[in-house]
Amino acid sequence: MRVEPITIKSNIKNYTAYFEENDDFLKKLAELENAVFVIDENVYNLHKDGCLNCINKDRLIILQISEERKNIDTVCELYEKIMQFAPRKNLNLVSIGGGITQDLTGFVASSLYRGVNWIFVPTTLLAQVDSCIGAKTSLNFKHFKNLVGTFYPPTEIHIYPEILKTLTREDFYSGVGEMAKLHLMNGEEDTKTFIKALPLIDKLDGKTLLERTQNCLKIKKSYIEDDEFDTGKRNMLNYGHCFGHAIESSTDFAISHGQAVVVGMILANKEAVKRGILKPENEEFVRTNVLLPSLVVKVPEIDSEKTVTAMGQDKKNLGKGLALVMLADGYEMVKITDLPKEEAIKILEEKW
Ligand SMILES: NC(=O)c1ccc[n+]([C@@H]2O[C@H](COP(=O)([O-])OP(=O)(O)OC[C@H]3O[C@@H](n4cnc5c(N)ncnc54)[C@H](O)[C@@H]3O)[C@@H](O)[C@H]2O)c1
Ligand SMILES: [Zn+2]
Repeated sequence: MRVEPITIKSNIKNYTAYFEENDDFLKKLAELENAVFVIDENVYNLHKDGCLNCINKDRLIILQISEERKNIDTVCELYEKIMQFAPRKNLNLVSIGGGITQDLTGFVASSLYRGVNWIFVPTTLLAQVDSCIGAKTSLNFKHFKNLVGTFYPPTEIHIYPEILKTLTREDFYSGVGEMAKLHLMNGEEDTKTFIKALPLIDKLDGKTLLERTQNCLKIKKSYIEDDEFDTGKRNMLNYGHCFGHAIESSTDFAISHGQAVVVGMILANKEAVKRGILKPENEEFVRTNVLLPSLVVKVPEIDSEKTVTAMGQDKKNLGKGLALVMLADGYEMVKITDLPKEEAIKILEEKW
């Protein structure tokens, strides 16, 4: 059965995510007028003789990506290359890649001619289940990650699980981490469905991935539609990210984002138990059945002092103490902004 598209309401413009069982949508995109394609170099090399074979090479920009290149210089490189195609404001910018490609091309789409039509094909599980909706574009500036950005959604997103088959296991499981988070946030029933689906997710079963991804986007949609500009409810999506972001940065990104988020959820749940809002048996259930099975990498050595310093520097941290989003009994989400540093250090140093 077909997985139905989802439309996200936005103050900027409504946009739709389509769930694709085959690559017909790419053939249609290849026929678009006034199109320029920007494709992650790795993705292009892996799929140029397969599903990306239909893309016209005369309208193609191959983009080398890395976190170091997610900056304004690469954006300028893209303006330059796009302008060589002598486009007008009716340009259709089609980008194909993961979150880095999304952030760079989303920023370009939002600023070129003050906004051009943008179509995004996410090629990592993380981008499919999470970053493709929400309308954020972010660039790094010097050592400040995601400091600069805009709110600008694509008009169309095409989710095609088949393209994920070339991802490394670590990159794939980065997306599984975010999938676990969203299912937990949506309650017991979704958590149980996720646990049951995990063996098929692990095998990259197309139907299971489409269904679970659609569910993730529905859940994220419910948070972002009510708070598009990230001032309140959307904060809860930061579950796992308070410790997670800090662990990524204190380990010099030795662990992928979504895998750090899994560790972050384990640690947040420990604090929730200490505060009496999560029963120990519920913490254990979630850790054993959801979080540990979603964690496939060896967690690097974590320097707790350095990590807590990074937590204090997080741009989302506006309160006196540290901010922490926690899961409580009944799969309720709770946010505190008064976590003492000493307590965060203790949590980081405990065994789990
Ligand atoms: N804008 C947002 O709302 C938002 C949200 C979350 C994360 N992000 C950003 O996303 C970035 C991380 O993105 P990501 O994890 O999706 O991946 P990525 O874009 O960093 O790509 C990860 C690696 O996988 C490769 N790759 C991509 N698709 C592939 C495929 N199908 N087969 C083989 N290799 C493939 C890439 O070339 C790269 O080497 C970070 O910069 C983060 O800040 C943005
Ligand atoms: Zn995340």
